[in-house]
Amino acid sequence: MPTETVVIIGSGIVGKSWAMLFASAGHQVRLYDSFPQALEAAPQFITEKLKSLEAKGQLRGKLSAVEQIALITYKNDLKEALKGATYIQECTPERLEIKSGVFQDLNKALAEIGNDKAIIGSSTSTIMPSKFIADLDMRKRSVVVHPVNPPYFVRLVEIIPTPSTDPTVTAYVRQLLADLGQKPIVMNKELPGFALNRVQYAILNEMWRLVNDGVLSVEDADTVMTEGLAPRYCFIGPLETAQLNAEGFVDYCERYGDAIYDVSVTQTEIPKMTADGSKEIDRQLQEKVPNSELPARRAWRDENLAQLAVFKKNLGIL
Ligand SMILES: NC(=O)c1ccc[n+]([C@@H]2O[C@H](COP(=O)([O-])OP(=O)(O)OC[C@H]3O[C@@H](n4cnc5c(N)ncnc54)[C@H](O)[C@@H]3O)[C@@H](O)[C@H]2O)c1
Repeated sequence: MPTETVVIIGSGIVGKSWAMLFASAGHQVRLYDSFPQALEAAPQFITEKLKSLEAKGQLRGKLSAVEQIALITYKNDLKEALKGATYIQECTPERLEIKSGVFQDLNKALAEIGNDKAIIGSSTSTIMPSKFIADLDMRKRSVVVHPVNPPYFVRLVEIIPTPSTDPTVTAYVRQLLADLGQKPIVMNKELPGFALNRVQYAILNEMWRLVNDGVLSVEDADTVMTEGLAPRYCFIGPLETAQLNAEGFVDYCERYGDAIYDVSVTQTEIPKMTADGSKEIDRQLQEKVPNSELPARRAWRDENLAQLAVFKKNLGIL
């Protein structure tokens, strides 16, 4: 695997996580932020995080934490950060005007330093890439590269090229991410919500219906996933699950297709998830975990995800 010079734009939650991931594979990483106070906090956070992951046996890659820490440098000058960059991962706030501004700044800065090769990925979760990439000189080298939080433990990455993206760029990004140990997927079309959120929103809509129609408590609704669907989905997706639940997928459709359709036509009314309508779900959720305890619960979730990753690795399926 060739060593890349990777520049991360934005040193928030996702930027720091990407920095650690790229360093885990031995790449040179430059973490850039336009806000000095955001960047100042990053070295200590990353150093402590990588050392703690190493102590728990959860560090990714073959290098030690000290070696990985040494690969990451911190920059507050954009052009200096971009010199010799081969891959750029943008991680700035999820607002179209910010993404547009950052991509225009990158386009200009790369042209000024004569870097017409660097490939640029955006971490956007919701903004259609054509909206901020389509008019730029660097559009052929730009794609959305959407991670799932926390990317250090959740490996899916959605790659969404625009119609202008050079297919060799999409292929390069896919390989780069696979070499990091992530699980990239490529969407052949831009679609609102990309893939993961389209599936997630369908699930959330049904959970909303089941609880707000008084069919299930919040605890029982979440248990449908944690103890019913999710254990299988950790290893095999819904389509392969269906294949295994009959004598192949065609047989599954013959056996269950009508029943699935009859249920699905009762799910066509789309609920609007509003703050006012969310009070009962919020009340029940906070009975279990008050909002004041969310940081501790997030740490617990991440620890479990790390353990799951180790377990899957030991099984040889990661
Ligand atoms: N947090 C998540 O769960 C998650 C998951 C997947 C994707 N994403 C996406 O990743 C991106 C970043 O999200 P985040 O949660 O890390 O946000 P964040 O608010 O934690 O971090 C954003 C960082 O960008 C910096 N910044 C702002 N304007 C900048 C500019 N012009 N140039 C350089 N840096 C700038 C800020 O100082 C901050 O450090 C968003 O597009 C988000 O949708 C987030």
